Formats: sequence, C-alpha cells, structure tokens
Amino acid sequence: MQTKHYEKLFAGLDIAGLKLENRIALAPMTRVSATEDGFVTERMIKYYTKFARGGFSLLITEGVYPDELYSQGYLYQPGIVNEDQTKSWRNVVESVHKQGSKIICQLMHAGALSQGNIHKANSIGPSAIKPKGSQLSFYRGEGEFQLSKEMSSADIEDVKNGFVNAAKHAKEAGFDGVEVHGANGYILDQFLTDYTNKRDDNYGGSTENRVRLSVEVLQEIRKAVGGDYPVGIRISQAKVNDSDHKWAGKEKDAEVIFSHLARAGADFIHITEPKAFEPAFAGSSATLPELAKKYGKVPVIANGALHDPEKAEELITEGYADVISLGKGALANQDWPSKVRNNAELAEFKAENHLLPIADIKEIEI
Ligand SMILES: Cc1cc2nc3c(=O)[nH]c(=O)nc-3n(C[C@H](O)[C@H](O)[C@H](O)COP(=O)(O)O)c2cc1C
Repeated sequence: MQTKHYEKLFAGLDIAGLKLENRIALAPMTRVSATEDGFVTERMIKYYTKFARGGFSLLITEGVYPDELYSQGYLYQPGIVNEDQTKSWRNVVESVHKQGSKIICQLMHAGALSQGNIHKANSIGPSAIKPKGSQLSFYRGEGEFQLSKEMSSADIEDVKNGFVNAAKHAKEAGFDGVEVHGANGYILDQFLTDYTNKRDDNYGGSTENRVRLSVEVLQEIRKAVGGDYPVGIRISQAKVNDSDHKWAGKEKDAEVIFSHLARAGADFIHITEPKAFEPAFAGSSATLPELAKKYGKVPVIANGALHDPEKAEELITEGYADVISLGKGALANQDWPSKVRNNAELAEFKAENHLLPIADIKEIEI
C-alpha cells in the first residue's frame, strides 16, 4: 500500500490561543449518558479520554445544557449549570489534558426541540410553532414535539444569562474554550430560521434580526470570559428535524450571518452540513465552509461526511477549512488520527456497532 502523509491534516494550528497539534477534532455528540441530574459519569471520562489517546487534538463535548429553565433537551443530558456539575466536568478536562489534547464545551439550549427536561415540562421558542417532524426516539423521545411558548423579552434575557453563566463555568472547569450551539434546529437556529421565527420585534424579520440573539449571546459571553478565551459558534442549514433546509437568501444570508457572528467576537465558526464538501445552495458552487471563511474571515471547522482522509485533507488544502471534525467516523474509529497517520485501515460506521450507549462501549476500557 502506498504511504500517504496528509501533511495538512497533521499540521499544527493556533486558534486565538487554542494550540492544536493537528487539524482533527471530535464533533460534538449527545450521548445521553450522564446521570439523571446532569452529572458527568466515570464512563464519560473514559469515553472522552479514548478519543484524546487516539490522536484527536481537539475534542468538542456533546451539547451541554446551560440553565435550569428551558434549555435541557434530553433526559440524561449533562449540564454545566451549578457548581457540582461544573466540578464533574473538571475530571473529563483533566484526563483529556493529560493526553495532550484540548477540549471545548458545547453549550446547547434546545428551545422548542426539548423533549426531556427535568426542570420544566413545557418548552419555549421564538414563536409558538410546533416543530416539524417527531421527537428523536434515539434520545428517549416519542411522538410529536410539543407546541412551545413564544418567548417574552424576559425569556430572551434568561437564555442569554444561561449561556453566559455556563461559559463562565466552562472556563472554571478548565475547558480550553466554548462552542455556542447555533446549529441543527436548536434555539439559536430556531431564531435564525424564517419558518420557526415569526416575531415582529428586533429578533424577527430580516436575516440581521434573526441572527441577533446569536450575536448577543456571543457578545455577552465575550464580555464575561475576556478577550483571550476561545469562543466559537456552530452553524448549519440542516436541522435534526429538517435535514434539507436551505437559507432562502442563499449567499446573501451567508454574508449577513457569518460577518455578524465574526464581528460579535467568534474566534471560530464550526460549520456542519450533511456533506461539507458539496455546494451550499442550488445554482452555485461554493460550500458553506467556504462561505463562512469568505465572510467570517475567522478559522473554520468543517463537519459532515469528512471521514475519508482524502476529502478532509482536500478541504484544508483548498483553504476552505482550518480544522475538520468527525462524528460517526470517530465513533467507528476512536483513534482515527492515529490510524490515518499510520496508514491503517479505517472501520466503516455501523449504527448497530458504533452507536451504543457509553455504558456498553467495551473499547473505552483503558
Ligand atoms: C449520536 C450523535 C449525537 C450528536 N449530538 C450532537 C450534539 O450534541 N451537538 C451537535 O452540534 N451535533 C451533534 N451531532 C451531529 C454531529 O456533531 C455531526 O454534525 C454529524 O454526525 C455529521 O458529522 P459526521 O458525518 O462526521 O458524522 C450528533 C451526531 C450524532 C451521530
């Protein structure tokens, strides 16, 4: 077999002080394996450590809920709301750091897509609209989503405060940065999306208005954590309950969204699309990572079917991504970076083998 080197994938990088040894990140993946009240378990420490040992220079945690109001999306999802939850994350951070990798915390508010919250029975969203599709059975959901309550100004303040407190807690826990979950149909994406946001205040209407809550969340986190703490945001068109969604304003929307997020202080933009290397919109050739780079002018993490190292290397070589993140490819190969570096064979992702609850993954025993 011919030896491949993948020089770009294995080159170091500094993102706003976040020093990475390679360009390969673990994508955020909800595993609903925390305790019922949102604490990290011993198994989760092992689970994250395994990816660090396998050569991922950056780990992004599963979506972590930031407040005890409406943010929790799933039962057994971890939180970072109180001191004890924060302390429980410290063990993950320290173990990952011992392996020489960096770890950032993904802060996720589920909004109208909440299907399991031990703090509140109902959900909130930008407008009182029942989400498309049905709850995710994989995360213990069943049937249609509930009709969420339209958020008041006070609810908007609560959401922002939750993100800010959670970011402060992440910093206290030793995380190397935070990623605001602005993608996949959760609350910030509900504001960004024309059909879930019918507000007639400053948060609805134009694309600029619809991205305002994400902008304010970034600005307020930045104020709270200081200028030298890495803060990024994840953005997608696709949603967990609407995988084909495209922005109506196409590249013009991309320009407004990415330029505003970067100006709000995002150190990086993490783009996720089903296939990161495919054109973002019909009738044009640019990919969404490419547009994030063009209009955001900050480092871009690209995600979506990049488990083939040739594709991943190509995206970085073309200059459209600085880092690639892997979800399913990483579940199938917890040592994907080491395997690629050694030209070893990669396992193909199979849900029945690789999407097990963390309690059932044998390979994480070290
Ligand atoms: C089990 C599972 C859980 C996920 N949970 C999250 C999450 O908590 N936050 C998030 O932003 N994306 C989440 N995702 C999406 C992944 O981060 C990623 O975008 C998706 O798997 C596509 O990348 P891939 O083709 O490399 O798998 C999840 C994906 C999977 C498979």
